[in-house]
Amino acid sequence: MAVESKVNRQATCSAPVNIAVIKYWGKRDEKLILPTNSSLSATLDQADLKTTTSVALSSEFDSDRLWLNGKEESITNPRLQNVLQKIRSLASERAQTDEEKAVLDAHVHIVSVNNFPTAAGLASSASGYACMVYTLAQVYGVTDYELSKIARVGSGSACRSMYGGWVAWNMGTRDDGDDSFAEQTHLADHWPGMKILILVVSDRKKGTSSTSGMGTSVRTSELLQHRITEVVPKRMAAIKEAIEARDFAQFGEITMRDSNQFHAVCLDTYPPIFYMNDTSKAVVQMVTQYNTMKGEVKAAYTFDAGPNAVIYAMEDAMAEIASLTSHFFPSTTPDTFFRGTTTAPPAPSAELLSHFTIAQQPEDSLQYGINTQPGPGPQVLTDEECLLDSSGLPK
Ligand code: DP6
Repeated sequence: MAVESKVNRQATCSAPVNIAVIKYWGKRDEKLILPTNSSLSATLDQADLKTTTSVALSSEFDSDRLWLNGKEESITNPRLQNVLQKIRSLASERAQTDEEKAVLDAHVHIVSVNNFPTAAGLASSASGYACMVYTLAQVYGVTDYELSKIARVGSGSACRSMYGGWVAWNMGTRDDGDDSFAEQTHLADHWPGMKILILVVSDRKKGTSSTSGMGTSVRTSELLQHRITEVVPKRMAAIKEAIEARDFAQFGEITMRDSNQFHAVCLDTYPPIFYMNDTSKAVVQMVTQYNTMKGEVKAAYTFDAGPNAVIYAMEDAMAEIASLTSHFFPSTTPDTFFRGTTTAPPAPSAELLSHFTIAQQPEDSLQYGINTQPGPGPQVLTDEECLLDSSGLPK
C-alpha cells in the first residue's frame, strides 16, 4: 500500500502599494476583472507602505484559513477563491512527482499584515492581493507564470503591484483575459529625485467602494465612454513618453488631468459619486497656485476613490509643498505630522505665502502625511520574518 505523502512548505514575502497616474475605472468583465481602459502607476517604496504575507501549506491542516491584520477572516470571498483556484490549477498542470501531487490536496494557512493603517483608505487591496499571489506562487512553485494575471482577479489594481517602478496595466482585448497583464515600463530608480507625498484626510465616512462605484459608472456615464475610447489611449502613450524623458511638466499635467477626469466621471455617474471633499479641494488649490507661482507644473496631485491626496513632485519642489502643507493644513501634532520624521518642515516665507489666496483650513483637516518615492516590486523574505509559528498558526 502506498504511503501517503506528507507535505510541508512555507514562504514569506512583501509587496508594495501603487498609486495610479492614469486611472483604472470600469470593467468589461467583472469575474475576470478585465478593465475598460489601460492604466499606469508608480509602485511605492516598501519602507513606507507594504503588505507582508506568510503562507504555510501542510497535509496536516484541515482547511484553508486566512488571518488579516491579526484577525481571522472568512476565506469564502469569491475573489480570494478565484485566486486560490487559479494558483492550484497551475500547480496541478505541472505536478509530476508524488510530492507535487500531494501539494494539491493540502490546505494553506495565510497570514497577512500591513505596515500602515488599513482604515486610512490607502490602497490595501492592491498590496494585499499582490502579496498573497506572490507568496502562494512561491509555495506552489509556479513563479515562472505571468502572476499579474492572477493578482488581477483578486483586485484589478493589484496586478500593478507585482512590479516595481513605473507599471502599465495593458487592458487587453481577449475575452479570457490572457492579454490583460501588468508590465514594468521604467525601473524605480529611472527618475532620480522623484518624490511622492500621501496626505491622509481626516474623514472616517465610508464611501462608495471602487468595485461598486465603477460598476455604476460603466452603466450610466457617457463621459466614461468618451474617456475609454478617446482619452486614455492617447494619455497612456503621452505619459510613458513624459516618464521616459523625465519631463515633469508633461507628466504632472497629464496626471492632474487624469485625476480630474476620473472624478468628473464620478460626478457624471447616475446617481453621482463624490470621493473628494473640501480638504481634497483645498489641496488641489494649493498645488494649482504653487504651479501658477512657478510658471510651470512643478507638483501634481491625484486622488483615488476617497478624499486622500497624493502629490508627485521633484525633491526641491516637494520640500516647498511640505512647508506649504503645514501652513495651510495646520496640525495639532506638527512634529510628527510627516510620518517617519520628528521635526516639522520650516514655515514658508512671507514672500512664498504672498502668492497664495487659499484660506488656512480647520486644524487637523489632514491626519498625517507619508513621504515616499518609487520603489521595487514584491520581495521574498527570510524564514525569520515568517508570521506563522511551527504549528501553522499566527505568531
Ligand atoms: C480609483 O483595483 O480597488 O484606485 O478591481 O474592483 O478591486 P477592483 O477595484 P480597485 O480599483 C482601483 C481604482 C482606483 C484607480 C486605480 O488604482 O487605477
